[in-house]
Amino acid sequence: MKPVVINSPDQNKERKRLDKSNNFEEFKLDDSLKSIGKDKLYYLYTYGCQGNESDSEKIRGLMEEMSFTITYDLDKTDVILMNTCAIRKNAEDKVFGEIGRLKQLKRRKPELIVGLCGCMAQEESVVRKLLTKYQNVDFIFGTHNIHSLPLLIKRVMENKERVVDVLSYEGDIVEKIPMVRESKIKAWVPIMYGCDEFCTYCIVPYTRGKERSRLPENIIKEVEGLISEGYKEITLLGQNVNAYGKDFVDLKYDFADLLTDLSKLPIPRIRFTTNNPKDFDDRQIEAIKNSKNIMPAIHLPVQSGSNKVLKKMNRKYTKESFIELCDKLYKAIPGVSITTDIIVAFPYETEEDFNETLELVKRCNFEGAYTFIFSPREGTPAAKYIDKDITEDVAYDRLYRLNDLVNEGYGRGNKRFLGQTVKVLIEGYSKNQNDILMGYTENNKLVNVIGDKKYIGEIVDVEITDAKTWSLDGKIID
Ligand code: 5AD
Ligand code: SF4
Repeated sequence: MKPVVINSPDQNKERKRLDKSNNFEEFKLDDSLKSIGKDKLYYLYTYGCQGNESDSEKIRGLMEEMSFTITYDLDKTDVILMNTCAIRKNAEDKVFGEIGRLKQLKRRKPELIVGLCGCMAQEESVVRKLLTKYQNVDFIFGTHNIHSLPLLIKRVMENKERVVDVLSYEGDIVEKIPMVRESKIKAWVPIMYGCDEFCTYCIVPYTRGKERSRLPENIIKEVEGLISEGYKEITLLGQNVNAYGKDFVDLKYDFADLLTDLSKLPIPRIRFTTNNPKDFDDRQIEAIKNSKNIMPAIHLPVQSGSNKVLKKMNRKYTKESFIELCDKLYKAIPGVSITTDIIVAFPYETEEDFNETLELVKRCNFEGAYTFIFSPREGTPAAKYIDKDITEDVAYDRLYRLNDLVNEGYGRGNKRFLGQTVKVLIEGYSKNQNDILMGYTENNKLVNVIGDKKYIGEIVDVEITDAKTWSLDGKIID
């Protein structure tokens, strides 16, 4: 079937940052769409970061406002939605593998509708491949127009069309998209969308568009609503939360202001992710220091400990300024836990450069890190960097050596709480043992405790009785 292409992704357009102003819209579902999902089931895959998890909550909100019901059984579903991630090649391979497997299901159930969205949908090459090789995908929409889902699904259901609608220009901010949240205890709160950094390895500025901040009053209203629903923790989301507000044209209001205003609200726990060291300023540190409910756990991606590599990555800070920032955080927020992201085997990274990364990990006392081997992403500058000295063996050797050091940090970060009494927000039963409760400390350490289910959703005092590399054990003190 020939696809109807309303809009298709164009990486040249995605690269541009022309329009500095933001457009704000409010979503409203047309009455005619409110019952098109009646008696129909949908299955939702979510890959990737917290931004995608948050988008999936909007996708659920839209589907359920159209009267679809969620199912966790692929064999029973009428619609499959795949919210995808493009950050590394293995993330994409996983999705293509899954779509391949779904071909069989579609053969058995030809009326099954499959839609793909998220970051992979924003890639020209992916859309081309889907249209030619994956006939079982019926519609594709991008990260800027999640709210188009109802109209697209209607076209596919009623006209039996294959439809592509992916926007490549700077997206709008659309408020009031309905949401079905995963948790009743912790909530994601996006404060901004997109990214203007253009780190040379990263596909996000292309897939998520220009940086645009939500208005403070909308964020505050959302958090007030969450408080009245009984939420205990919010995590503010953005690709670079430290740059929040920099895109406002007529408003002087930044991340420090937002932290200060939110911390005055009666929400017990505030977290935020992810940070860019280059924009983490002293006012933000002051705001965290002066608040009681901003949690002492900061994720601060460094990527490399070599100034040469940082420059090639276009990270716009140095090893020295990063160390200074960590020192400031440790001083201002006693006991803070700092975690990071690191990429190894970036093109032109020598053994000396890599050793500088190891040194930095030791110097900064990280209590955890997500570590990755560089993965070339089509269309990004670093995809064209060629370094024949970095073989797969070299890359894995560096990753393993780094992981050994990082794991020591995880262990150290847990052991320092042994014997102490800490506050834990109990989230539910542990994944592995269903008579054990689990939750996180203020420093974001996973704790398992024996206790009654009445504690779920509560912040309780827990005495830490054992500290392992990946988790703590404790007992609730009534
Ligand atoms: N290859 C490997 N890791 C990457 N990241 C982003 N892009 C790439 C890439 N092309 C990592 C960075 C980032 C985290 C979310 O993913 O460390 O902080
Ligand atoms: Fe993946 Fe980045 Fe898109 Fe999140 S923003 S889904 S990490 S590519």
